[in-house]
Amino acid sequence: MKKHRIAVIPGDGIGLEVIEAGKRVLETLVENHPDVNFEFKTFDWSSRRYLEQGEYIPEGGLEELRTFDAIYFGAVGSEQVPDHVSLWDLRLKICQGFDQYANVRPARLLPGVKSRLQGAEKIDWVIIRENSEGEYSGNGGRVHQGLPEEVGTEVSLFTRKGVERIHRFAFDMAMSRPRRKLTLVTKSNAQRHGMVLWDEIFFEVAREYPEVEVDRELVDAITTRMILKPETLDVVVATNLHADILSDLAAALSGSLGIAPTANLNPGGGFPSMFEPIHGSAFDITGKGIANPVGAFWTAVMMLEHLGENALAGRLMAAIEEVIGSGLQAPDLGGQATTHEITAAVCDAVRQKAKAVQAVG
Ligand code: NAI
Ligand code: MG
Repeated sequence: MKKHRIAVIPGDGIGLEVIEAGKRVLETLVENHPDVNFEFKTFDWSSRRYLEQGEYIPEGGLEELRTFDAIYFGAVGSEQVPDHVSLWDLRLKICQGFDQYANVRPARLLPGVKSRLQGAEKIDWVIIRENSEGEYSGNGGRVHQGLPEEVGTEVSLFTRKGVERIHRFAFDMAMSRPRRKLTLVTKSNAQRHGMVLWDEIFFEVAREYPEVEVDRELVDAITTRMILKPETLDVVVATNLHADILSDLAAALSGSLGIAPTANLNPGGGFPSMFEPIHGSAFDITGKGIANPVGAFWTAVMMLEHLGENALAGRLMAAIEEVIGSGLQAPDLGGQATTHEITAAVCDAVRQKAKAVQAVG
């Protein structure tokens, strides 16, 4: 019996709703499974905890988190806490503390999902985001606060080591996909230091991957290409800020923020990796029971793949596609279904598929 220990951090807002749903689906996936089991431990690291106790992560928290096989994360963000505090004190402490330098964001149009973009069925992308430095390295400061002379700096930091490893990761990802295409995104015309370093290292690494077809695009130009020629893109590699923006665009073009997943990977495996839907805590729909749980489910698929459970990952993805393909969709996709209804339907589909496998085997 293989047991995967999973740390669950629901966080804030709809994070609690969709992660609860995701846990139910994962538990259903292994019920009566002879070989695989999950042990979940839930951590109440949230803005409520911060407001009550002054911290998101208690002392010793990261040390304990480190012992898990994977982290399943909801969202963090509250109207009572400035966003830069919640983000840096919880999510980035984990991403940076655990050197989860590769952020992976697949985008593709799932069956039954309507996009506003004509030709969106041609979207099949993986956006690779550098997740440990760059524009979000936290390098900067403010002086003369509140005075007319006030100055704020936000300095992007690019290291050869950091850039090289994300490019290599992106090339490996491109190699694992049928089309083997990789597009480099920077802004090296206007930003002539760090971005030029990015370009140079990319083409150095490219020499080790002759089978990968490469091209490059400026970040402004790629937004139009995503919309006008979606079929020309496969894997895209970009900096922390650029890929953050591009992946929200990718999510909207392929349906909704509510269905898009992401993985924060520590590829070396020295620390656990973290899996989360890309959306935030969504104050406007919190508590209404209508949050789309599909982003959290697809995220669980990525976590299963990372844990080496490819058969279960395939089964869950097929169940998700069957349910949303049948038209049972949340309001963000134009449907009427509640979080609970979609979750119950995906659990049923998972059980049906397990039965079918048992019948054959
Ligand atoms: P958001 O992703 O929470 O919401 C944007 C819009 O998308 C809202 O209208 C929301 O209702 C909708 N939406 C998002 N997820 C949905 C789902 N699963 N089903 C249906 N509709 C969904 O982004 P926003 O409003 O910019 O941020 C709200 C809070 O979340 C802020 O505090 C922000 O800092 C935080 N945030 C946290 C993230 C994280 O933990 N990784 C990511 C993005 C935002
Ligand atoms: Mg974002």
